[in-house]
Amino acid sequence: MKKILITGGAGFIGSHVVRLFVKQYPQYHIYNLDALTYAGNLENLKDIENEPNYTFLKGDIVSEELMHQLFQQYSFDAVIHLAAESHVDRSISDPLSFIKTNILGTVNLLNAAKNIWQDNYEGKLFYHISTDEVYGSLGETGLFTETTAYDPRSPYSSSKASSDHLVRAYYHTYKMPVVISNCSNNYGPNQFPEKLIPLAINNIKKMKPIPIYGKGENIRDWLFVIDHASAIDKIFHEGTVGETYNIGGINEWTNIDLIHKMCEVMDKKLNRENGTSASLITFVKDRAGHDMRYAIDSSKLMNELGWQPSLQFEEGIEKTIDWYLENESWMNRITDGSYEKYYEDQYEKR
Ligand code: NAD
Ligand code: DAU
Repeated sequence: MKKILITGGAGFIGSHVVRLFVKQYPQYHIYNLDALTYAGNLENLKDIENEPNYTFLKGDIVSEELMHQLFQQYSFDAVIHLAAESHVDRSISDPLSFIKTNILGTVNLLNAAKNIWQDNYEGKLFYHISTDEVYGSLGETGLFTETTAYDPRSPYSSSKASSDHLVRAYYHTYKMPVVISNCSNNYGPNQFPEKLIPLAINNIKKMKPIPIYGKGENIRDWLFVIDHASAIDKIFHEGTVGETYNIGGINEWTNIDLIHKMCEVMDKKLNRENGTSASLITFVKDRAGHDMRYAIDSSKLMNELGWQPSLQFEEGIEKTIDWYLENESWMNRITDGSYEKYYEDQYEKR
């Protein structure tokens, strides 16, 4: 039985990846290693927590000793590494925790894997999950490809870029079998409400102001999280060692258009008069160093591995809104005292 270590599996994307692998591959044993930071939530995995091919391991990837101990104890065959500090705004107020988890944590995992794999790399794989933000910010035209030069601009994207470089360094220097993917903005169930879409859904529902940074002209390329998980599955099984794959939704929206679309959908779902939710839109001080546009060219992944996103955005956003409306208790438990404090620090002094 293959033993696969998935890091950050209690988070947003990680929980969808863990679920897919546990359900689809009974011949694998999935170990979910997560420190359960504010972003980690085991409730995301309630439906699979008792599956015989699933084990949760609580631990911090920043602990070098623990990483070596876990690799010695379990002899993992492969790693899918998602654990990270992931929110740009938090990286602006606290860069150091991003350096620790995203850079040091990744090196600790690479070293622990190298330590037990280096005599025989046969059948082993270190799959690093990264972001399109490493490529910087686009103007009105063009797309990020796998050969676009790195140009990260926030402490978050710089820490992810650094981790990508280190993963490639272990491939070239130590011949470690690695693969990397860089994905655009994800949306869907179980996303922590610090990110734009769940934050907006929560505020619309509660008739609270919807904060839009700057003029709302920044553009993001949105992908449904289940489609990211299916791309990870493809790349894990069929990707070429040493390669990088970009993953995107072919789905660009300005923030303001996206929020208007969501307001329209939510007015219908909440039986509100058309325009009620949009009246909550509030322009606030822009994010420092706010990247203008991200857009991904996923043709390598589509042409070489045959991956396609399964959902059109209109369907994906409806499903997402339905999920948050139906899972009010999930949101209420998440938005406890510590979220309120974060929200106050981020927005009330803006
Ligand atoms: P998330 O913040 O929802 O989840 C991160 C998870 O990692 C949490 O469960 C947290 O507890 C865990 N974690 C954090 N620090 C840890 C540590 N030191 N040790 C062990 N576990 C730790 O993040 P997400 O949005 O699901 O993103 C997952 C990965 O995908 C990240 O690497 C991120 O850079 C990448 N990514 C995210 C997006 C996106 O749109 N969200 C897009 C592209 C790539
Ligand atoms: O592109 C991939 C990246 O997407 C991932 O690597 C990151 O982990 C993920 O957080 C996401 O980064 P963004 O900064 O693009 O996502 P966020 O949801 O924070 O913001 C989306 C856009 O909305 C961005 O232009 C900033 C804006 N925004 C965000 C928030 C939270 C607002 O206008 N108001 C807000 O309150």
